[in-house]
Amino acid sequence: MAPRHFLVGDELTSAEIHGLLQRALELKAAPLSARPLDGRSVALIFHRPSTRTRVSFEAGVFELGGNAIVLRPDEMQLSRGESPRDTALVLSRHVAAIGMRTGPDQLLADLAQYASVPVFNMLTAGHHPCQALADLLTLREAFGRVEGLKLAYVGDGNNVARSLAIVGGLAGVEVAIASPAGYAIEPVAGATLTDDPAEAVRGAHAVYTDVWVSMGDEETADTRRRDLAAYRVDDALLDLAAPGAIALHDLPAHPGEEITAEVLYGDRQRIWDQAENRRHAQKALLELLVGPSEVR
Ligand code: CP
Ligand code: NVA
Repeated sequence: MAPRHFLVGDELTSAEIHGLLQRALELKAAPLSARPLDGRSVALIFHRPSTRTRVSFEAGVFELGGNAIVLRPDEMQLSRGESPRDTALVLSRHVAAIGMRTGPDQLLADLAQYASVPVFNMLTAGHHPCQALADLLTLREAFGRVEGLKLAYVGDGNNVARSLAIVGGLAGVEVAIASPAGYAIEPVAGATLTDDPAEAVRGAHAVYTDVWVSMGDEETADTRRRDLAAYRVDDALLDLAAPGAIALHDLPAHPGEEITAEVLYGDRQRIWDQAENRRHAQKALLELLVGPSEVR
């Protein structure tokens, strides 16, 4: 049977996303209650730095009874020219699933094409769908539901914005994205794109932002900071959202750039819960991808 992958987020149905969020809440309440990875390993390939993704996956795999094998490029033959195909074929003989953080989406797709175990995206230049699952979980906790909520994303139209539009849309969240000209994502069904932060934020239950300079964008950092300067999430912008609106950020944050310190550490943020929710949401994802415990 072909493995289930999670590369851009739309591999899951709307019902599966809702089920996953429910399961994540159960796992958050009882972290050691499921052991689908008992005696199994998961490979986690990091071509780019990570704090949250690495720690949440490594800790999550352990809590599910498994063993995480963290692989850096300089430790793999992939960096010496071994193909993604051969890498996938070999890793599939040893591990129950493969996660990868890399730049090119095509590299992840190539790996998935030849893997006989599930492959999941731990961030590419184009997508960050595991982050979006944790973001939805944070909305679910804050509001008791996700369907019918409005989420405004303000800032660079990047991997995080795109995954929120795709995965959030599937879950029934109305996603509005405000980015300056030249920084917008391509249209995503159901998502609203504008260049006006106030318009995006109006009536929003959550106001979300991400870094102005993503990994790989360092060469244009100064231009980006100038072009995005009016897209900072501060208390005044939050005041334009719905009463009780929360602030979200996938982190790492740059207080004073895309978000003020007042919001980042203030009463309206759920950002640190959001960071914790990476582990719970990803455990539910892993359980869904690898299947329940079985006798082997
Ligand atoms: N939000 C996120 O993916 O953080 P890391 O880059 O630290 O993994
Ligand atoms: N957009 C950011 C997200 C970091 C978690 C980046 O790609 O660097």
